[in-house]
Amino acid sequence: MWFTGLSGAGKTTIASAVASELVAAGKRVEVLDGDVVRTHLSKGLGFSREDRDINVARIAFVAHLLARNGVFVLVAAVSPYRQTREAARATIGDFVEVHVAPPLDACVARDTKGLYKKALAGEIPQFTGVSDPYEEPIDPELTLDTSAIDVATGVERVLAKLVELRFLERERAPSEARSRA
Ligand code: ADX
Repeated sequence: MWFTGLSGAGKTTIASAVASELVAAGKRVEVLDGDVVRTHLSKGLGFSREDRDINVARIAFVAHLLARNGVFVLVAAVSPYRQTREAARATIGDFVEVHVAPPLDACVARDTKGLYKKALAGEIPQFTGVSDPYEEPIDPELTLDTSAIDVATGVERVLAKLVELRFLERERAPSEARSRA
């Protein structure tokens, strides 16, 4: 599952919550989060298009290694370029693109990391959605407006999509998913 969207959109929150559900269902799971990957595998990379593309390609490579060994991999990365996400899809094969898509205004209002304030003040160059592009997916498997739904609902929708696409055998009862979130 590839969660793409603006910084602060809720990618990590939804991916982590889905991961917990899958672990509870006995699946082998790994989360690859852009912020975390950038402290290790992609340490030193910046936010130019080239560096983002390298970061995303590395994440896709690792995701592929894990996925082909039966691990459910949840990627949470801005991954702003459509072509690069499509390359990740081609690399990985079994690919579920989830566009985490609250309006930009909601991300700015939340500003969980205080980065939008800095970006809008011109202190962070090339900030996605402010001074750098975000290319929306054209035909993602799922779109979640996290400003309009709660985390439990987002998780339910992701799990339902996995069932629909036959990556999961059956859906948990929604009430069960909600009480766990
Ligand atoms: S990606 O573009 O290469 O996919 P990634 O998801 O790894 O990005 O990292 C994005 C995170 O880095 C954001 O959530 C934010 O915390 C931080 N960040 C720092 N500078 C920028 C920037 N210029 N644009 C976007 N995110 C940034």
